[in-house]
Amino acid sequence: MPAPTPAPDPSPAAPRPLRVALLGCGVVGTQVARALLEHADDMAARAGAPLELVGIAVRDASRPRDGVGTVVPRELLTEDAASLVDDADLVVEVMGGIEPARTLIRRAIASGASVVTANKALLAEQGPSLFEAADAAGVDLSFEAAVAGAIPIVRPVRESLAGDHVRRVLGIVNGTTNYVLDQMATHGLGLEEAVTEAQALGYAEADPTADVEGFDAAAKAAILASLAFHTRVSIDQVAREGITSVTADDVAWARRTGHAVKLLAIAEQTEEGVSVRVHPALVPLDHPLAAVRGAFNAVFVEADGAGPLMFYGQGAGGRPTASAVLGDLVSAARDRLVGGKGPHESAYASLPVLPAEAAVTRYQVRLLVADRPGVLAQVAGVLADHGVSIDTVRQTAAEPPAGVAAEPSAGVGADGTGVASLLLTTHAAREASLSATVAALGDLEPVREITSVLRVEGV
Ligand code: NDP
Ligand code: HSE
Repeated sequence: MPAPTPAPDPSPAAPRPLRVALLGCGVVGTQVARALLEHADDMAARAGAPLELVGIAVRDASRPRDGVGTVVPRELLTEDAASLVDDADLVVEVMGGIEPARTLIRRAIASGASVVTANKALLAEQGPSLFEAADAAGVDLSFEAAVAGAIPIVRPVRESLAGDHVRRVLGIVNGTTNYVLDQMATHGLGLEEAVTEAQALGYAEADPTADVEGFDAAAKAAILASLAFHTRVSIDQVAREGITSVTADDVAWARRTGHAVKLLAIAEQTEEGVSVRVHPALVPLDHPLAAVRGAFNAVFVEADGAGPLMFYGQGAGGRPTASAVLGDLVSAARDRLVGGKGPHESAYASLPVLPAEAAVTRYQVRLLVADRPGVLAQVAGVLADHGVSIDTVRQTAAEPPAGVAAEPSAGVGADGTGVASLLLTTHAAREASLSATVAALGDLEPVREITSVLRVEGV
């Protein structure tokens, strides 16, 4: 008689805890640690196994810090990040910077750990080699928090839109500069004054260069473009211009012409390739991005099938950013428990990344000209010579809008000639043609000054 088949064990052994190493205990790391410790049961239930925080690497473990010794046990802190990584199933990198973050992530991957990072600077510079290493090792390298903080944008573009064709991504992905431009628009502040205020509120760092010069947004644009167009885009391929040349006058005149000035990250596919750029731009007041106020972020995605989609929320801050990190961590844990892996980096399309001069957009140009017959024709001739088509021309009113310094519109120039202020908007033109046009306008005898050149997006 055959032996009876053993009955299935009604109480299978609980899965062993997954060991989590946290690299960094700053603004974001502290909140990740807090959530892992305070919500351990929820995390375990959602992941399918306990997520055990085994250590937190910092530069200086003896330094007093908020939350450590209370919510986060001090014994978890270590200055030996490498040993911590070697002993983990899951590594969360929230230390920032290129090194030692890169080496530690590579080490984690090599030892078979999945990695979650918020480090856009590293991904925009070294992403491809790290993704290759993760794919080869069969582990996850997740980075939702690296673009627009709490806003789920990486996953929707990479997974939800995987069957669609993304045409364009327009985003406000830097909260500091959005706050600064918003303060300039609503309170008439100058740039420096608004940056100082952003620093006092903790939005801008003591050295605000990464934000105001557009480096932070450029890193995020490179990551978004790579995902949207299945093409590797690095930060040095992003045409970048920050907000330092935006004046209070620009912001006030923008409102007068029905626009808001926003620092945009733009990634779009054209027939020639992919154009990725970061620059201040005029956005029509009825466009959803114009309504994004303060330090909030928003990303507007246009896809063939889905049409326009808007993602909005907090792009920075400890708890919002930790939310995105923890979402990735739970997903990576789930993948690990089933022996699988999330989507790998897809760069199959490998489209050409176009130089800055090839970008095509509309422009608004403000200039002061001698007010005499034939000048408008001369100005129009310069644009025509460069193949730039004029959409509208208007001689602005002598009365400036509130908060705008009076221009000598309809006044008298130093040479005794009347001076008029012209506002031109163009149809879509190449960046290269517009630059040449502006240079030629500057050389035109009746042109007294080119007051401002701003791109117009979102029309
Ligand atoms: P912080 O500067 O607040 O914290 C960095 C932490 O990493 C600190 O605990 C620091 O240790 C530790 N650290 C830095 N270098 C080393 C090192 N060489 N060895 C060991 N530990 C180190 O940074 P944030 O928390 O603000 O940012 C972390 C990451 O998250 C960055 O990549 C950032 O771009 C990204 N991010 C941040 C957002 C935010 O709102 N802050 C939003 C979205 C992304 P110690 O404390 O001892 O100095
Ligand atoms: N400095 C960034 C911002 C936050 O102002 O949006 C981190 O991405």
